[in-house]
Amino acid sequence: MPIIQRLSEEVFSRIAAGEVVERPASLLKELIENSLDAHSTSIDIEIFGAGKTSLRVSDNGVGMDADDVKLCLERHATSKIAAFEDLDNLHTFGFRGEALYAIAAVAKVTVTSAQKESKTGWRVTSEKGRITDGPAPAVAGTTVFVRDLFYNTPARLEFLKSDGSERSKLAAVIEEAALANPGVRFTYKSEGRQVLRLEPEDSGDFFHDFDMRVAAVLGDDLASGLLPIDVERPGVRVRMLVSPFDKMPSSRGFQYFFVNKRPVASKILSTALYKAYGDQRPSGKQPVCVALLELNPDAFDANVHPGKREVRFKDDGEMFEIVSGLVAAALAKAKAAAPITLAPMPEPEPASVVADAPATASNAPASDHYLGGRGFIPEPFKQIKLSASMAMSAPDGAPAWYTPPFRYVGQIERSYLLFEANGGLFILDQHAAAERVLYEKLLGEIETGGAKSQKLMIPVPVDLPASAVRAVLDKSDRLHKIGFEVAAFGKNGLHVTAVPALFYQADDVKKLIHRIIDSLSDPVHEAERLRHDVTATIACKAAVKSHDRLGEEEAYKLLDALRDCKDGSACPHGRRAMLSLNRDELARRFQRPGAVPLA
Ligand SMILES: Nc1ncnc2c1ncn2[C@@H]1O[C@H](COP(=O)(O)OP(=O)(O)OP(=O)(O)O)[C@@H](O)[C@H]1O
Ligand SMILES: [Mg+2]
Repeated sequence: MPIIQRLSEEVFSRIAAGEVVERPASLLKELIENSLDAHSTSIDIEIFGAGKTSLRVSDNGVGMDADDVKLCLERHATSKIAAFEDLDNLHTFGFRGEALYAIAAVAKVTVTSAQKESKTGWRVTSEKGRITDGPAPAVAGTTVFVRDLFYNTPARLEFLKSDGSERSKLAAVIEEAALANPGVRFTYKSEGRQVLRLEPEDSGDFFHDFDMRVAAVLGDDLASGLLPIDVERPGVRVRMLVSPFDKMPSSRGFQYFFVNKRPVASKILSTALYKAYGDQRPSGKQPVCVALLELNPDAFDANVHPGKREVRFKDDGEMFEIVSGLVAAALAKAKAAAPITLAPMPEPEPASVVADAPATASNAPASDHYLGGRGFIPEPFKQIKLSASMAMSAPDGAPAWYTPPFRYVGQIERSYLLFEANGGLFILDQHAAAERVLYEKLLGEIETGGAKSQKLMIPVPVDLPASAVRAVLDKSDRLHKIGFEVAAFGKNGLHVTAVPALFYQADDVKKLIHRIIDSLSDPVHEAERLRHDVTATIACKAAVKSHDRLGEEEAYKLLDALRDCKDGSACPHGRRAMLSLNRDELARRFQRPGAVPLA
């Protein structure tokens, strides 16, 4: 029995329809959603030419009869709603009757379908404005085959990104659908190669299935140790997996929100997530989050944006409080449990991260500290010996802060280098200063033809979603210039086979790759940011750390190198590298007679 009807003008004029085929990934999203609406449990996707040459989606869903196949490419033809009020009780992704029509307007399309019990199938083809149809084999389910995307609007091809980048977006669409639908089997072949094969998770325990699917999509590196949240509130069911404080990647790229299985980009939800982590989130770290929210269909509006990527909640404040509260509670619980657990201690954060944090009493040697009270003067302060002075005058082009002669006085907390500078006091943050020096050195190397690279004896594996792997591979030329070599590895990951010569720690390589993914997601400043972010991170990891004991010679070397930097006053992340109190300032502070007064 045919079920597709044409919407009346009164209905379709109130629906947020419009552009649905911006790029191969947006049409793939529509086709997968149609397959899910048809209750499919298995969806096979195959593309060639990054989705522009051809894109095929086959499902085992309920299929269509011959009359519906003939109608499905028509505008405003849908089986999903009949009246505008139906939107208040929507249980499907589709509601506009627009997607197949819009795809057929910019590509050659064939839809082949058969219902389960039916003896024949039917096929309709739209090509260059001509629509033909006829019988087809009775294979239950639907296949949509799209060829020559934008063949009649070639200008739109120019708006697409590189093939690698389009392939990454295609994989990301499949990953999203897979995360929200753990019971559905997905396979994905790209240019003849199998990229994804996700078997259905159908243990009967939805949260378990969700957890398994998240691990299959994100890879073990990102998915292990996530905290589970599974709560039912009046009108809302929340299932989430989120990072604990001590295990977060450095990329914001692994945060997924779904409302009734729709992937949504929601400022409210992401702000709620970050609010829960508050200021205890280690700097530069970003939570992984996969959130499946289920609401009554009348508690939100999906009819906001033609791409269906946004929803409007009836009650923003309530959604915010629920998400933020549940995540905060899960984090608190995980934290409280930590000291009494008998499981092996988690790997400590690499030293570099600890070093970024300000020194605390517990990680600095107590005996070196002036603890106050009764005339106690720590030994090192009594014994400061004055060192040889440096050049008497600043070389041409030296920065304003460089006020010789400098005389090294000593190190404080193994973090700050103290100098006398032309009668004043000058303090360097040794880590920030070293970072800046390395950063500029590396930028110099990159600008003059590529950074020195060093092959790794054993490649570092990095588990990532397939879309992120594609995104990184797509930029491999640019990465090569910075000193990295990367290759696809296995089902879910990358092998990093060479790194910039300045840089060597395996854990840090993973972090860098996450940073790179973040830089890639900013299309406008991509090249610039990639260079800056990666270079700054390499410099940070390779630089002298706080708590490294530096000798006099090294202190002078660092000062000299900083003087030759273009901008030595701050580290590449913008943190201050130096402080000074010049001679006049000192005199003024001690209220010396004749001190230069405040201007
Ligand atoms: N894979 C499929 N299996 C079964 N029926 C399908 C499939 N794809 C499309 N259809 C039928 O074709 C109709 C038109 O699909 P189309 O995607 O154009 O519109 P829609 O899903 O109803 O709304 P929207 O434009 O919001 O996606 C659907 O309503 C559905 O009845
Ligand atoms: Mg649809």
